[in-house]
Amino acid sequence: MKLQILLTLILQVALAESLRERYGYFGDTITLPSEADKTWTIASVVWSIFSNNTWIATFNKGVKNEQWTSRYKGRISLNTSSGDLTIRNLTTEDNMEYTVDLLNTVGQNSADKIKLTVRQRLQKPTIETVTSSSVKGGCWLFLRCLSADKDVNLSWQSEHSNVTVNTGQPDGNTSVLFTFLKTTQNCVNFTCTSSNKNENASSDITLKCDDQKPTPHPDSVQPRERNAVAFFLGGMLGGGLIAILLYFFGGKLFPSVENNVV
Ligand SMILES: *[C@@H]1O[C@H](CO)[C@@H](O)[C@H](O)[C@H]1NC(C)=O
Ligand SMILES: *[C@@H]1O[C@H](CO)[C@@H](O)[C@H](O)[C@H]1NC(C)=O
Ligand SMILES: *[C@@H]1O[C@H](CO)[C@@H](O)[C@H](O)[C@H]1NC(C)=O
Ligand SMILES: *[C@@H]1O[C@H](CO)[C@@H](O)[C@H](O)[C@H]1NC(C)=O
Repeated sequence: MKLQILLTLILQVALAESLRERYGYFGDTITLPSEADKTWTIASVVWSIFSNNTWIATFNKGVKNEQWTSRYKGRISLNTSSGDLTIRNLTTEDNMEYTVDLLNTVGQNSADKIKLTVRQRLQKPTIETVTSSSVKGGCWLFLRCLSADKDVNLSWQSEHSNVTVNTGQPDGNTSVLFTFLKTTQNCVNFTCTSSNKNENASSDITLKCDDQKPTPHPDSVQPRERNAVAFFLGGMLGGGLIAILLYFFGGKLFPSVENNVV
């Protein structure tokens, strides 16, 4: 029986703990709930931080003060009816535990702690045209997608069906797409999406064969191009690419594609 009570207590504590975490994004606004009983009329609220309980926002005897510290200056609002604290323009320095102490008009009090975690939003990935080469009836394209974020998955989406994607990311957050476009095709859209378990961010590029001018800085592009090709070949080795290339250099590139060119 005692054990059961103990377990129930532990469970309740665990549940309460899990409710007291809030996640916000850098630059966004978040409201930290006071968890005050909805039936209460609040007489006094104190929001504080750090182990020495530095006050950041208070309401007492009808007087609200949100200017106790400079770190939240102009960024916090205390709702005196709910006791909730709103923090605007979040920064990673706001990552910490917040304590709220409440007192209602009939003298009941409550205290709660909320852990706030501020995350950086995922950045849009960058798409580069690594290399392209025009051939009869179309062009080959190598696109590379890079992300500045760590631990993300990169994926390609396109309405164009003839796309080979190398999902391997040998040098970190990179994904390569290899495709053949017909000259008759107008503006094909390629999207690269960077995602983690919480969110995603996408960039896209629209290309057609005529667009494939060499990248402006041939000096810097040269090694990259070689790397990308080597990396792609590496990824595809054992697959059908060699066969395709042989076929291609044998002058018999995709007879069906050529047949379709008017
Ligand atoms: C409370 O703690 C913080 C951080 O540890 C410190 O910066 C601040 O000066 C302390 N305030 C007082 C009144 O001791
Ligand atoms: C304060 O909280 C109450 C109750 O949750 C809500 O109805 C009200 O809109 C809030 N006021 C502001 C200014 O957000
Ligand atoms: C894809 O390639 C095949 C042959 O390789 C061709 O018949 C087909 O038209 C191509 N589809 C598109 C959308 O380019
Ligand atoms: C990524 O975006 C799509 C479309 O907006 C959405 O359906 C999906 O849930 C998102 N994935 C994550 C992990 O946020």
